[in-house]
Amino acid sequence: MKKFRTGIVGVGFIGAAHIEALRRLGNIEVVAIADPVNAPHKAERLGVPKAYDNYQEMIEKESLDVVHVCTPNFTHSEITVFAMDNGVNVVCEKPMCVTIQEADLMVAKAKETGLMNGLNFHNRWYPMTSELTEMIKDGDLGPIHVIFGEFTQDWLLYDTDYNWRIESSESGTTRAVSDIGSHWMDLVQHVTGLEIKEVFADFKTLHATRRKPKSEVLETFITSSDDDNFEEIPIDTEDHASVLFHFSNGAVGSAIFSQIITGRKCKLAMSISGMKQTAYWCSDTCNELWLGRRGDYNQVFEKDASLMHKKTMVNAGYPGGHAEGFPDAIKNNFRAMYANIGKPNNAPDYATFFDGRNELILCEKILESARTHKWVKVDY
Ligand SMILES: NC(=O)c1ccc[n+]([C@@H]2O[C@H](COP(=O)([O-])OP(=O)(O)OC[C@H]3O[C@@H](n4cnc5c(N)ncnc54)[C@H](O)[C@@H]3O)[C@@H](O)[C@H]2O)c1
Repeated sequence: MKKFRTGIVGVGFIGAAHIEALRRLGNIEVVAIADPVNAPHKAERLGVPKAYDNYQEMIEKESLDVVHVCTPNFTHSEITVFAMDNGVNVVCEKPMCVTIQEADLMVAKAKETGLMNGLNFHNRWYPMTSELTEMIKDGDLGPIHVIFGEFTQDWLLYDTDYNWRIESSESGTTRAVSDIGSHWMDLVQHVTGLEIKEVFADFKTLHATRRKPKSEVLETFITSSDDDNFEEIPIDTEDHASVLFHFSNGAVGSAIFSQIITGRKCKLAMSISGMKQTAYWCSDTCNELWLGRRGDYNQVFEKDASLMHKKTMVNAGYPGGHAEGFPDAIKNNFRAMYANIGKPNNAPDYATFFDGRNELILCEKILESARTHKWVKVDY
């Protein structure tokens, strides 16, 4: 079996999750990491043989097959282009980058090189979201007319909560929308096969300023330093977004994307109603798919590979009753990406740079609507 040589750029919250997921696949060796902050310590902690403090040196020296880009958003494009110019396939974190120009460059580079280009919209890859995708293709829900849901968190509730995502120069022009809303919008469009064509948005920024610690900022989700040593910085991105949608088949939709919903840790939920059934899936109960009907009993479809489509069984790695979640969805996504290396003409089920570009356009249109208080058309 060919073993792929992989390097990880950026080892904070999600970089470590990438390493764990890759190791579980068996055909991938994580040979090096690159991170300007404590790289040798991080490599030792995670059992990775080599550590670099810059990605260029790692890519030039390590003969890598794949690089995973797990850094703050504003660095994704530069790292990706460098990797692809050196003949290396790229798995990039979402949001793909911070401007449409960067996104166009990444799409063009992927096309020019024919290299595998994947984006970690991992929510497509839970056992029950991948199963729902096949059910909808089979027509099990009937024609779809309403889609609604949420992606809600509370980790940025207080003005003492600080992370690089707070700064638009590092994160991009939207925050709740591009950081978590992008997951929801990718998921509902992927499972239904529909496109979002028009948006109407209302934003709230709870804190006009936030306290940025002057000492070292801890990793993502580890927040609320009570250190008195801070500077007050102005906030120019939304903590909360309420968005209405029009879909390509005429279906209507709505969602809340928010980082200030007290008590909600990381809840992605979607409800998709067709004329035959409603399907409801939520990340908090991700091994279940609720199916609601007008003239019959409602059902809960519990994850069980033996009851799933042949195509999606592989995404249920353990027997029914054995819970699978976030790390498993990421593993499933990477399995599909690595299987596609060297096959540039395949139309994969994972999100590609093209999908990442479309998400960026969508986020910009949502921002435009929030600013103009008008419905905005989305042309991809
Ligand atoms: N798919 C998901 O569910 C998911 C979840 C979390 C984060 N993300 C995405 O992953 C990316 C990273 O987020 P995070 O939460 O892990 O952030 P983080 O702050 O926890 O970690 C980022 C790491 O990148 C390093 N870094 C910064 N600049 C670098 C550079 N130029 N070269 C190498 N390393 C560099 C930092 O030192 C840090 O270790 C973001 O794009 C984020 O949106 C995706």
